[in-house]
Amino acid sequence: MLGLMAPDYLEREVFCRGPEPFMRGVKESLAALGFDLTRYHQESFGPPETAPAPEVEAPEIRFTASGVSTACAPGETVLAAAKRAGLNIPSGCNFGLCGTCKVRKTAGGVQMLHNGGISEDDIAAGCILACGSRPLGKVAVEI
Ligand code: FES
Repeated sequence: MLGLMAPDYLEREVFCRGPEPFMRGVKESLAALGFDLTRYHQESFGPPETAPAPEVEAPEIRFTASGVSTACAPGETVLAAAKRAGLNIPSGCNFGLCGTCKVRKTAGGVQMLHNGGISEDDIAAGCILACGSRPLGKVAVEI
């Protein structure tokens, strides 16, 4: 099919973007077809730069809509604490890119690391990405 769409594909630069299994399949197919992989490029994502977990005394999250509160382990994210407490916050990438885990924080502060999955407007409106946010004390989240 590739040969029909781009008969000169063996001479082209290839830029690939998509889910990891798809990109792996494209790369393997091109290699099998004799493509020079020095001209193959793909998009890669990784977790945001790590930062040391803040030292916080008694971090705690109150999930206001569900009426559940839980103490957090040092460095535990809001997403991990919610799962441990039996609550579901939809999530996808788990490294601050997709924005699926965006929730509204109504009280307290968090250390939030992300990969661009939240806008400055959302942050100003009180939203956080649960997968990359660690409580800095007592926090309330609307789920
Ligand atoms: S799960 Fe993708 S940004 Fe949190």
